[in-house]
Amino acid sequence: MDGYDPSSQHFVDDPYPAFDKLRAGPPSVFDETTGQWLISRYPLVAGLLRDRRLGRTYTHVADHESFGRERPPDYLAPFWATIGNGMLDREPPDHTRLRRLVSSAFTPRRVAALASRVQRLTDDLLDRLIDAGSDGSAVDLVAGVAEPLPVTVIAELLGVPEADRELLRPWSATICRMFELNADRTDGEAAASACVQFGDYLRQLAARRRTSPTDDLLSDLVAVVDADGDRLTPDELIGTCVLLLNAGHEATVNATGNGVWALLRHPEQHVRLRADLDGLLGPAIEEMLRYDCATPMFERWVLSDITVGEPATGDEPVTVPFGAELALLFGSANRDPSVFRDPDSFDIGRAPNPHLTFGAGIHFCLGAPLARMEMTTVVGSLLRRVPNLAPTTEPRYKPGFVVRGLHSLPVTVR
Ligand code: HEM
Repeated sequence: MDGYDPSSQHFVDDPYPAFDKLRAGPPSVFDETTGQWLISRYPLVAGLLRDRRLGRTYTHVADHESFGRERPPDYLAPFWATIGNGMLDREPPDHTRLRRLVSSAFTPRRVAALASRVQRLTDDLLDRLIDAGSDGSAVDLVAGVAEPLPVTVIAELLGVPEADRELLRPWSATICRMFELNADRTDGEAAASACVQFGDYLRQLAARRRTSPTDDLLSDLVAVVDADGDRLTPDELIGTCVLLLNAGHEATVNATGNGVWALLRHPEQHVRLRADLDGLLGPAIEEMLRYDCATPMFERWVLSDITVGEPATGDEPVTVPFGAELALLFGSANRDPSVFRDPDSFDIGRAPNPHLTFGAGIHFCLGAPLARMEMTTVVGSLLRRVPNLAPTTEPRYKPGFVVRGLHSLPVTVR
């Protein structure tokens, strides 16, 4: 596939030229290397995200053999048992039930109530960062702020005690590595072991919350397990907590790093934002989310044959068969010139900005209000407190494509 190669660092560093070529081609092409059908244009990605003939899983309609897929190896059983019990890997009616039970914690009102806590945490992290860089030396915005903030927020929301939080990031990073296209047996074994440890830890914490509930989401979820009616099974409780801890920070860390880097490499937009922070911060965050998407690709299984194409553009429709896997390229859709004027320019005043970074349809990101609030708080506070924020070097992207972000973002803050 011309330039499309998620296993190559060159592609991950800058996938946008390959996305341009894909959008100019047929509505879908089969990529031999990944075994996936690629969907790169905005109207098709947005439509397919809402198409109920696709699923995040297929196990609710077929077993592995009849779907034409290999049964996952036994060593991955703990991994799939954990992931398969979270809403992201369930389809209705289970998905509807799980999402309803957790949604109340993420309404814009509940999230707004967290704002002062997020601001305090951000202030503390920035105090430390600014102090460390007060002599003009480079400090890392990813390790110093972008990473610790969302981890702390989601851990506090769920009720993971402070002393245990250092366990979370390695478990979550090990599990998320499995979502990359080139995950191998070593990654799989590590992820399965992290799932076992994470699950055991959460089961013990849930048992403590059952006898002595506190004011946190885990206590609420434990109460739901024990309630009559709308229920969560004990395994779904664990799957839900693991999903929230992983989804709740992996994407936010990378979206914050990518977003600030986009701003810093467009100095005229940086100046523009500082001149009207109150007016432009909201649209600037949306543009950061669009421009260099931290979640450039999500997958779907084809549960019955579909035909992909935009007849109005004169497309030759492409049939994608039952059992196939689609790669929905959000990062490409976000640069589609049929939707975004001058899509490769970074414009902090862009409106409208209907990017697909949080997905769409029934799996639309549950944490989007929280992620937006965290990013707004971090970027707003950073620009208010550090008028001369500047990069010291060109940062490097990590090898991952499914969750795409920077190793570090070295800056001066004096
Ligand atoms: C900038 C940060 C974030 C980005 C870019 C992001 C992106 C996404 C995307 C694209 C999906 C849908 C995947 C698909 O359709 O296959 C999703 C789902 C989800 N996200 Fe996020 N996310 C972010 C932050 C968060 C946060 C902070 C939380 C929670 C605390 C969260 C929780 C979830 C959950 C629970 C789902 C599954 C929803 C469902 O299946 O119904 N996310 N996220």
